[in-house]
Amino acid sequence: MRTQVGIIGAGPAGLLLSHLLHLRGISSVVLEKRSRDYVERRVRAGVLEQGTVDTLIEAGVGERLLREGLPHHGIELRYDGERHRIAFEKLVPGRAITVYGQQEVVKDLIAARLEAGGDIRFEVEDVAAHSLEDRPYLTFGGERLDCDVIAGCDGFHGVSRPSIPPGVLKTYERDYPFAWLGVLAEVAPSSEELIYARTERGFALHSMRSPTISRFYLQVPPDADVAEWPDERIWAELRTRLETVPGFALTTGAIIEKSVTPMRGFVTEPMQHGRLYLAGDAAHIVPPTGAKGLNLAVADVRVLTEALTAFFHDGSTGALDGYSAACLKRVWRAQHFSWWMTTLLHTFDSDDAYGRRLQLSYLDYVTSSEAAATTLAENYVGLPW
Ligand code: FAD
Ligand code: DHB
Repeated sequence: MRTQVGIIGAGPAGLLLSHLLHLRGISSVVLEKRSRDYVERRVRAGVLEQGTVDTLIEAGVGERLLREGLPHHGIELRYDGERHRIAFEKLVPGRAITVYGQQEVVKDLIAARLEAGGDIRFEVEDVAAHSLEDRPYLTFGGERLDCDVIAGCDGFHGVSRPSIPPGVLKTYERDYPFAWLGVLAEVAPSSEELIYARTERGFALHSMRSPTISRFYLQVPPDADVAEWPDERIWAELRTRLETVPGFALTTGAIIEKSVTPMRGFVTEPMQHGRLYLAGDAAHIVPPTGAKGLNLAVADVRVLTEALTAFFHDGSTGALDGYSAACLKRVWRAQHFSWWMTTLLHTFDSDDAYGRRLQLSYLDYVTSSEAAATTLAENYVGLPW
C-alpha cells in the first residue's frame, strides 16, 4: 500500500491535516488505534480561537460549527468575592472565541473525510514508523504503508515521537502539583460567559457546551481518582468555589461524564526528524488553563499543510525544513500564556502566603489596567496567524 502522507492519529491534528491535504490534491491515510465511536465521544477541549474557527470554515467543515457553536465576547475572572469581565469586544475588537466541543470538530472532520472517500483506519494495532530518514514507511496489524512523509499526530502518549532516535530531540517539561477534574453535566449553564475562579480551596472553571449542557473543571490533587468524587461532592465543591459573589447561584443537574487530567507543560525541539513531522500534542502539551492545546494543533497543521503543498507541488523542501522553527514561536508563546494563567489562578502551596499575595496583586493589575487586560485578551482569543 502506498500514499503520499501517512498520518498516525485521528485526533483534531491528524484529521484536519488529512482534510486540508485532500483539498490540495495530496493523498493520505490516517491510522488510529481507537474506534470511531471512542474518538467521537472523547470529551476534551471546548474553546476555539478565531483562527481555528476561520480555518475550519475556509476548509468547508464549519457549517455545524456556525450553527451550533457559541460565540463569546468576554470571560469572567472571579476572586476575593468579586467578578471582573475581560471584554474582548473592547480590548481586541473584532476577535472572539467560539465554544464548540472538540469531539464535535472531530465528528465533522471524520464525516467530511469519509464523504470525500478518505481513508481512515480505526482500531489499527501496533503502528510503528520506520526508515525516517529515507523512504519512510509505517507498519500496523501485519500491513505496510509506504509514504513520502509521515505526520505524527498521535498525541502525547503516541508512538511517533519515541520512534525518533535518542539524542535527536531536546525536551522541555514542567509538571504541575495538581490535576483537573473535568465534568460534563446535563444542566443549563449558570452563566452566559466562562468563569475562571480563584479561591483558597483551589481553581474552578465554569464552561458550557450548549444551552442545556454545562462543562466544569476543578483543581484537584495530582493523584486524584474519579472514584473519590461522587456527584454530590463535585456539586458541593463547585458551589463553594463559584458561589463567592453576590447573586450567583449554581444550577445543578445530572453529571454525564467525569475524568481527571494531569497538568503539564512539554515541548520537544525540533518537531521533526528526517521525513517525520510531529504536530499537536505529539510535539507539545500545555496546561489547559489558557485553552490553547487544540488551537496549537490546528496552527501546526496549517503550517505543515503549506510546507507539504510546496513539497508535493513544486518539489521545494525549504518550508518543510523550516516547519519546526515556524511552529515553535507560537508554541512557546502559548506555553508562557498557559503557565501564566495557571500560576495566576491555581492554589499552589497553602503555606505560601507570599505567593498568594503575588497572585492577588497580579489579578488586581489585570482587572484594573487596560494594558494588562489587553495582554490577557489578545492571547486568549489567539494571536493573529
Ligand atoms: P489527540 O487529540 O490526543 O489525538 C491523538 C490521536 O492519536 C488519538 O485519537 C489517539 O487515540 C491516537 N493515537 C495515540 N497513539 C496511537 C498509536 N500508537 N497508533 C495510532 N493512533 C494513536 N485545548 C484547547 O485548545 N482548548 C481547550 O479548551 C482545551 N481544554 C482541554 C481540556 C481537557 C480536559 C483536556 C484533556 C485537554 C484540553 N485541551 C484544550 C487540549 C486538547 O484537547 C489537545 O491539545 C488536543 O486534543 C490535541 O489534538 P491532537 O490531535 O494533537 O492529539
Ligand atoms: C474549556 C476548557 C479549557 O481548558 C478552558 O480553559 C476553557 C474551557 C472547556 O472545555 O470548555
